[in-house]
Amino acid sequence: MTTAHLSGRRVLLIIGGGIAAYKALELVRLIRKAGGEVMTLLTKSGAEFVTPMSLAALSGHPVRQDLFMPEDETAMGHIELSRWADLVVVAPATAGLIAKAANGMADDLASTTLLATDKKTLWAPAMNVRMWEHPAVQANVATLKSFTGFHQGAFVGPDEGEMACGEYGFGRMAEPAVILQAIDRLIGAGSRPLAGRRAVVTAGPTFEPIDPVRGLTNRSSGKQGYAIAAALADLGAEVVLVSGPVFLNTPQGVRRVEVEAATEMKAAVETELNAAPVDIAVMSAAVADWRVDGVATGKIKKAPGGPPALHLIENPDILASVSKSGSVRPKLVVGFAAETSDLEDNARAKLSRKGCDWIVGNDVSDDVFGSDGNAVTLFTRQGSETWERQSKTDVARKLAQRIADHFKA
Ligand code: C5P
Repeated sequence: MTTAHLSGRRVLLIIGGGIAAYKALELVRLIRKAGGEVMTLLTKSGAEFVTPMSLAALSGHPVRQDLFMPEDETAMGHIELSRWADLVVVAPATAGLIAKAANGMADDLASTTLLATDKKTLWAPAMNVRMWEHPAVQANVATLKSFTGFHQGAFVGPDEGEMACGEYGFGRMAEPAVILQAIDRLIGAGSRPLAGRRAVVTAGPTFEPIDPVRGLTNRSSGKQGYAIAAALADLGAEVVLVSGPVFLNTPQGVRRVEVEAATEMKAAVETELNAAPVDIAVMSAAVADWRVDGVATGKIKKAPGGPPALHLIENPDILASVSKSGSVRPKLVVGFAAETSDLEDNARAKLSRKGCDWIVGNDVSDDVFGSDGNAVTLFTRQGSETWERQSKTDVARKLAQRIADHFKA
C-alpha cells in the first residue's frame, strides 16, 4: 500500500450519520499514520454514531460540529475549513449529504463547507442498498460527478456485501484502507500540474545605490513574491526567484538569484528568458521607479556646502519589457498593481499599458506591506475576481492554482 502523496497534506473529513461512521475513526488513524493531517467535521446525525471525544483524540484537532457555534465559527468556520484543506473527504457519505451537495443546499456546517470549498471532494457513500439504487440518489451522484474543475466529485465504493440492516447488496462503505488509497491518488493526481513548466518570479524591493554605502529602497518585504515562488514550485514548476534584498529563506525547490538594483534585476530576468523558454513570469517585485544618475564611486562626504543634490533617472520597466520580449516572451505574464484608489481602473490601465496578461491588484491603503495578509483582485483580459483578505500563502496558492488551470485549459 503506497501513500506517497499524503505526507504533509491536509484532509478535512466530513462524517455523516450512518453505522459506517465507526470506520471513520480508523480512517483518521490511517491518514495520520501516512503523515497527513486530519480535521474532522461531524454532522448532527454522525454524532449519534461516533463521539467527538474519540475523533478529537485520534485527529489531534478539535472536532467541528456546528455552523452557529460562536467559538467554532470564529476559530474556523466553513470558509476557513475549506481553505485549510487540500482535500475534502465525506465518509460515510449519506444520501442526505449527497443530495444537499448535488443541489447546492447549505443549512449546516457540513453542507456549507461542501459548497464553499474549491478543493476536490472524495465521497465514500454508505447507505441501504435500496437507497443507493434509488434513481434520486443515482441522479445526485451523477450530478456530483459531472461538476468539473475543483468541485469534481470522486467516489470510492460503495461495496457489495452484507449490511447492518440485514440486507445484501451495494451500500457498504469502502474499507478505510481503500479510502486511504483513493485519498492518496486524488492528492497525487493533479498535485503537480505545473511539472515541466518554467517560471520566473521577481520579488522584494530593489536597492538603488547613491554611493557604495547608501541607497534608495522601499518597504517591500518580499513575502508575497516568495510565497508565489513556493506555491508554483509546490505545483511542480521549475522556479527561478529573482530577488531584491529581503530577510527571507529561499523556498524549498526554488533557485534564487540575488540582485540589488532594478537594472540588475532586469538583466537577471533577461538571462533566464534567454537561457530556456519560460512559461510563467510573475513580476511581484516592488521595483524602484527611479535610480540615482551617476552613482558616486566613493562615499560622499558631508561637505560644508550642504547636502548633495541627487539627480534621479527613470528605471526600466521590467514587467513591460518582459511582456514585449517577442520570441522569448513567457506564455503567461502576471504583474502586480499596488493602488490606494480606483483599483479596477488603474489595474486595467496597467494591464494594457504594460502588455501583460494578468494583473494582481491590491489595495495598499489597507495593511499590506510587511504584513502576512493580503486582499487582492485578479484582473485578466476576460474579467476579474476578488479574493477576500487571506494569508499571503493562501493568495499565492490560489494564484498558482489559477495559473495551473490556465495551462490546463
Ligand atoms: O507601474 P507600477 O510600478 O505600479 O507597476 C507594478 C508592476 O510592474 C509590478 O508587477 C512590478 O513588479 C512591475 N514593475 C517592473 N519594473 C518597474 C516597475 C514596476 O517590473 N520598473
